[in-house]
Amino acid sequence: MKKLFLFYGIIFLLSGCNKNNSRFNPYFGNGFRNGWIDQNSAVIWTRLTKVPELKRDGLPFIPLSNEEHQSLSTCTDESKIYRAQIPQGLTLEDMEGACPGTAGQVKLVYYPQNKRGDKTEYKWLTVDTEKNFTRQWKLYNLQAGCRYNVEIYARKDKRSCVSDTISGFFTTPPEESTVQEVTFCFVTCHDYNRRDDGINGHKIYPAMLKNHPDFYVHTGDVEYYDKPNPFCMTESLMFFKWNRIFALPFQRDFYTKVTTYFLKDDHDVLKDDAFPGTSYGNVSYERGLEIFDKIQFPSSDDTYNTIRWGKDLQIWLMDGRRFRSNNTIPDGPEKTIWGKVQKQWLFRTIKESDASFKLIISPTPILGPDRDNKNDNHSNQGFKNEGDEIRRFVNEQKNVYFCNGDRHWQYVTHWEGTRLWEFSCGAGSDEHAEGWSQEDKRLEHRFLRVKGGYLLGHVYRQDGTATLKFQHCDVDGGVVYEKLLVTE
Ligand SMILES: [Fe+2]
Repeated sequence: MKKLFLFYGIIFLLSGCNKNNSRFNPYFGNGFRNGWIDQNSAVIWTRLTKVPELKRDGLPFIPLSNEEHQSLSTCTDESKIYRAQIPQGLTLEDMEGACPGTAGQVKLVYYPQNKRGDKTEYKWLTVDTEKNFTRQWKLYNLQAGCRYNVEIYARKDKRSCVSDTISGFFTTPPEESTVQEVTFCFVTCHDYNRRDDGINGHKIYPAMLKNHPDFYVHTGDVEYYDKPNPFCMTESLMFFKWNRIFALPFQRDFYTKVTTYFLKDDHDVLKDDAFPGTSYGNVSYERGLEIFDKIQFPSSDDTYNTIRWGKDLQIWLMDGRRFRSNNTIPDGPEKTIWGKVQKQWLFRTIKESDASFKLIISPTPILGPDRDNKNDNHSNQGFKNEGDEIRRFVNEQKNVYFCNGDRHWQYVTHWEGTRLWEFSCGAGSDEHAEGWSQEDKRLEHRFLRVKGGYLLGHVYRQDGTATLKFQHCDVDGGVVYEKLLVTE
C-alpha cells in the first residue's frame, strides 16, 4: 500500500499539477450550450474565459454620434473603428461587460441521467484560439426521449489541474411514434443594453424555466451588432457582444438546462435588414454568417432542419438569411428569402409528415401585418411573390402554423376564411418592445400586445384528441393570451 501512495505521489509531482493553479483560469464564463438536437445526435458548444464572470466594473464605450456611426459603418480601418469607441490606453478587456477568452483544454463527459456508469468520456481537447476560444462536440448514437447529463472540465494544459467544471443537461426528442406531452418556448429580439435585470440578464429566462420546457427556440436577433455600446463594425467587437450576453447569469443557467435551437436574423449576422453582399465596417455579410453558423453557436452542416417531437408535433427551423436575394431588387418569381432548395425541402417534408401539428418557425413574419416602410420579410411588398407562394401552400395543408420572431410586439394573426395563423413571440424585454401602436389593432389581429415576453406552447391529448395550446406570456411568465387548437 505504501508503495502505491509513493507511486501516485511521484506521478502527481511529475505532472506539475499544482492545486494553487486551480484558482486561476481558464473558466467557463460563457457556460455551455447545446444545439441541433434530434433523436440520435446533439452538438455541444463551450468557450474558455480568463475570468469566471463578466467585468462589472469596466469602463463605458465612447458613444458615437449618428454621423460618426454612419461614416465608420463604411470604414474598413479596424483600428480607426476600435479607437473611436475605446478610450486611449484601454483595450476591450477593460470595458464594462468584458468576458475575454483564453487558451486551454476542455474535456466533455456525458451520460443518460443518473447512469454515470454508462458515461462517454472524450479526451482533452484544446479550444480554438482562432474561433473565439471555443470548442464543439458532435454527439452521436444517443437514445430518443432521454435526458443526458453533461459535465465539462477545464484546464490550462496537460500539466495543470482542473480549473473549472460546469454541468447541466439536455433532452433528446421522443420517437415519432411516441404520444407524449411536449412543452416549448419561443423567443426573439433581445440584447444586453435592454436587459430587464441589470445584474442577471433577461427575466424571461428564469420565467421560462418554471414552465419546464422540453425545448426552446431563439428565433434570432439574440444580440444587435448595429446598436451602441459598442457598434460592432469589427470581428473583435462582434465577439465582445457574444461573450458579454452569454456571460449573463440568467442566460448561462438556462442554456445548461434546456434543449435549444438557435435561428439567426439580420442583427446577429450584420445589421438591420442585411442581405448577401452587404458589409458593416470591415466585416462582410458572408463572414457574419460564418461567425454565427460556424463559430459562435452550435454548428451543423445544414443551417435549417426539421425535428419531430413525438407523434403530435414536428417543427421546421428556417434559415432566413443565408439564401436570400438582395432586398432592394424588384419583386418577382425568383426573388427569395428561403431559397429554392430550402423552400422545396419545406414543402416536401411538410407533405410527407403525419405529425398532428406542424410548426414553421421563421425568424421573420409570413402574415404580419408589418409596417409599410419595411422591405425585409414575406409580409412586406418586396417579397410578396414568395410570401404568396408559401401562404398558398400552407392554406392547402392541414394543422400547419407559422411562428415567428423579428417583430418587437406579440401578436396572433388569422386571415379570415383561410387556414392561415401566425403567432409572434414578441421582444425579450418590455424595454425592447416597439414598432407598432397598441391602438392599431387590425381585423386580422386576434391578439396584439406591444410588450415583451415569450410564446409558450403545449401539445397534449385531451380525451384522445391532439391539442395545441399557445400562450403568450409576459416577461415574468404571466399568461396574457391563450389559443387552443385541435387537429382538423
Ligand atoms: Fe429585432
